[in-house]
Amino acid sequence: MILEGNIEETIMDLPDKSVHCIVTSPPYFRQRNYHFEDQIGMESSPEEYIKRLATLSLQFYRVLRDDGCMWWVHGDNYAGGSQIVPPGEKRITEPFGLPKKNMLFFPERMMMALQDVGWIVRQRGIWHKPNVFPDSAKDRLTIDYEPFFLLSKQPKYYFDPDAIAVPAKFTKGLMPPIGGKKHQKIGGERYKGNRVMARPTRRLRSVVSIPVAQYKEMHSAGFPEDLARIFILSGSSHMGVCPACAAPYMRIVEQSHVVTRSGRKRDQPKEHRKDHPRGHRHSSAVVIRRTKGWAPMCHCDAGEPMPATIFDPFLGRGTTALVAKGHGRSWIGGEGSPEYIDMVKKNLAGVEIVEEDTALRPQVQQLSFT
Ligand SMILES: C[S@@+](CC[C@H](N)C(=O)[O-])C[C@H]1O[C@@H](n2cnc3c(N)ncnc32)[C@H](O)[C@@H]1O
Repeated sequence: MILEGNIEETIMDLPDKSVHCIVTSPPYFRQRNYHFEDQIGMESSPEEYIKRLATLSLQFYRVLRDDGCMWWVHGDNYAGGSQIVPPGEKRITEPFGLPKKNMLFFPERMMMALQDVGWIVRQRGIWHKPNVFPDSAKDRLTIDYEPFFLLSKQPKYYFDPDAIAVPAKFTKGLMPPIGGKKHQKIGGERYKGNRVMARPTRRLRSVVSIPVAQYKEMHSAGFPEDLARIFILSGSSHMGVCPACAAPYMRIVEQSHVVTRSGRKRDQPKEHRKDHPRGHRHSSAVVIRRTKGWAPMCHCDAGEPMPATIFDPFLGRGTTALVAKGHGRSWIGGEGSPEYIDMVKKNLAGVEIVEEDTALRPQVQQLSFT
């Protein structure tokens, strides 16, 4: 469902506590003109912009379930940097009173404003962009990332790390669980000789490397589908929610520990291996997690679960809606630009539902500095 028009008004139609997860990237301050009245981002000052978004976030807070979470992508810019000046307004030469070339810390200021109105800012993540163009500044490094944030209403909220787990680094030479017998079958995982035939995974880390999307439409502010996928799969239940009270179904996970076989540490230089006090042998624990099933978090016993609801108040080209639909979630989006609303409708027509929930694409990579 698309809420068409200024989100500050259209959001009033949404009932309290009716969405499970919010995924969004707001318009940035004076960076793009979306060509409609009431658009956010064209305020007279950056302080006014932050206050407007923080006030609007109280409506996001109202519509989000108490066990829900919100993912928020927000980039920064510089004092004296490029700026779209709305008609009748002046160029702001010293935003926040800061002279030219200063970082403005918009993401941090925004998060602190959200904390002030009651949100818990749970995490900062970094979206590393491996395919950025070198930027024009010659006196600093090229910027190749954008921060994103995870927020919640309460300390305890729904989060499914297993839905976005990635393959563990050490998958070779695994031995059966500590104290276990070789060739045994534990937790449904099979062993062949000393090798575990299961795929150990690890929790996704907070720096993810995802290429900037080259969407065919002219809406260049769209975030990549793989980023939205991380947010949607972890922030909402793949099994769905109770049809009576909308409480999410939780994943039931069985966990077994295995140790890697002693052997050479592959990423150490040869000389180092020789000098190592215990020779060149090592072992480390790896955890294998397997989904056993799903269970409702309520006692309603109301029958088949229904899809969780994802909400993006700033839909743009519809990335959040496309990914939500593809993973069998319901979605609600707000958008003020008639042009983008048409684009979302067109884009949604071709989306097919992906069956599996652990569907992170290979191009989502963890950064490795070793
Ligand atoms: C940064 S873009 C979102 C991009 C989106 N994440 C995507 O992947 O395409 C911000 C969007 O917010 C919309 N917008 C700006 N002010 C708005 C308002 N007051 N009400 C509703 N939509 C608004 C703009 O038209 C723009 O499409």
